[in-house]
Amino acid sequence: MICLDKIEGSDSVQFDRLWRNGRLATLARQRPGAGLVERGAIGVAEGRIVFAGAEADLPAGAGAREVFDLEGRLLTPGLIDCHTHLVFGGERSGEFEMRLAGADYRSIARDGGGILSTVRATRAATAEELAVSALGRLRCLLAEGVTTVEIKSGYGLDLATELRMLRVARALGRQHPVEVATTLLAAHAVPADRDRAAYLDLVIGKLIPQAVREGLADAVDGYCEAIAFTPAEIRRVFEAARSAGLPVKLHADQLSDCGGAALAAELRALSADHLEWTNPEGVAALARAGTVAVLLPGAFYSLKEHRPPPVEELRRSGVRMAVATDCNPGTSPLLSILTALNLAAVQFGLTIEECLAGVTREAAHALGRAREIGTLEAGKRADFAIWDVERPAELVYWIGRNPLYKRIWRGE
Ligand code: NIG
Ligand code: FE
Repeated sequence: MICLDKIEGSDSVQFDRLWRNGRLATLARQRPGAGLVERGAIGVAEGRIVFAGAEADLPAGAGAREVFDLEGRLLTPGLIDCHTHLVFGGERSGEFEMRLAGADYRSIARDGGGILSTVRATRAATAEELAVSALGRLRCLLAEGVTTVEIKSGYGLDLATELRMLRVARALGRQHPVEVATTLLAAHAVPADRDRAAYLDLVIGKLIPQAVREGLADAVDGYCEAIAFTPAEIRRVFEAARSAGLPVKLHADQLSDCGGAALAAELRALSADHLEWTNPEGVAALARAGTVAVLLPGAFYSLKEHRPPPVEELRRSGVRMAVATDCNPGTSPLLSILTALNLAAVQFGLTIEECLAGVTREAAHALGRAREIGTLEAGKRADFAIWDVERPAELVYWIGRNPLYKRIWRGE
């Protein structure tokens, strides 16, 4: 990028920095499709967008301390990965080999592998070790233009380790140029060393209150599934979360129809995630509640599932659809949000515009942060990604090419 000129000492300086001569995919809802603006400009001040629109509409006399020529490049909002399990100990390539040889995810889980094997590795890891391995994964996401990432706990399943995971996630957000949203997923599996009732009492009576006291969790998640928790158990956890002032989100209907989407909607969840087995009533409930459907094609792909989420019904009902990596060591060892977009388009039938909105505007809704991030609009955080592509569709089309030119976080 060439610094064109500096306008110094004049009264008309309005921006700290101004990027011109770009194509903006604003993703603003009032504009059609991806909200494209040809020959666009974006001006920022104090880390926020002050102007985003056609260069011709720049206010007369607008100036900036620094002006950059985008040379026709595409600019999108910074990408938001709204569902990850980025902090964990160990890895599960051995389990991957077992699945390649025909073993099934659920039976591996029932035999004490799956989530519980990562729990053993995570409990054994220090905060430092967890931070180092998570940072390596975080860097892969940042390299593809991610500026906000959600990180869940859920591989500790005891007080100390769940809190350690959340502290590590929070620290990543403090120490690196990325916004981290933390989610307490203590209701991920029943630990091997406690019975389920005692564990749920611990989650409700100790873990949620302690996470709130330390400001460690922005939301609470649960896994509603035959191999995890029942709808009634999830309801207890979510009611405790909501009384503690935390929003909820749910791993719902991934492997079977357990009424997860309807439950999430009833409890006014920010999002219901996975949704492969969601039935029409579930879709209608999500639409009524305004709960975001988070689609996770990496898990669908890795588990070689056959039943995609009901995208056409979600679309027709006006449910917001987000897309995320679900990066985790078991079902989705996926460290590329651009690949998640390709999978969402090819496997689930999302359009290019739905894919782009799914990792920007709709992902912001899934985190309850749509007022701050997710579109290129005045007032929002100056988080964006500049791409070396001719057409927006290329962000979805290539597999394994990273066309990121530059990532801007908070205007820098
Ligand atoms: O989002 N569905 C539950 N949790 C993770 C997988 C966890 C694991 O196998 O480690 C998911 O797919
Ligand atoms: Fe997940």
